Amino acid sequence: MIDGLTYGENDLSVEEYKILRTDAGWKPIPDEQIRKSIDACNYSITVRKQDQIIGMARCLSDDVYMTYVYDVVVHSKFRGNNIGKTMMEKVISHYKDRCDYLMQIVLLAVTSDVEPFYKTLGFKRYPNLINGSGMGMWINGKPY
Ligand SMILES: CC(C)(COP(=O)(O)OP(=O)(O)OC[C@H]1O[C@@H](n2cnc3c(N)ncnc32)[C@H](O)[C@@H]1OP(=O)(O)O)[C@@H](O)C(=O)NCCC(=O)NCCS
Repeated sequence: MIDGLTYGENDLSVEEYKILRTDAGWKPIPDEQIRKSIDACNYSITVRKQDQIIGMARCLSDDVYMTYVYDVVVHSKFRGNNIGKTMMEKVISHYKDRCDYLMQIVLLAVTSDVEPFYKTLGFKRYPNLINGSGMGMWINGKPY
């Protein structure tokens, strides 16, 4: 357990995003793209210790039916302390509180090493009886 953590909502900065993205080992993207992406996402969770960013989870949702969760990162120095789980529980509670309808919360592009993390939260692996395995494509270039 780590003391002194504060959880925030919708307050992620470009610099904080870059810190976590870099720490996760993901390819850098331009600041302007980050700014626009943060502005467009309609719900996010942040975790800080004092002023230091240590976690984020971002969502795009129609608030009534489909929610996509992405950019779920806990800084490598702080992993294994239930921070990721707490962030995701806050995301799930947020939508449970505001939506009375059947809603699907979707994680796209989950790498196989992270699947056990999401399974602890109740996420089911695709494909299953209802969903295919998920599909995607990149446009305007290659990610790696
Ligand atoms: C995935 C990630 C967010 C997990 O954050 P975390 O704070 O370390 O996870 P937690 O401590 O909250 O773990 C919650 C549970 O998941 C399990 N877990 C977490 N990461 C795991 C992993 N990689 N493999 C297996 N189990 C894992 C924990 O053991 C714990 O289980 P328990 O509830 O039975 O004790 C973090 O490892 C991370 O930022 N990874 C790099 C970025 C990334 O890949 N993000 C996912 C993009 S889809």
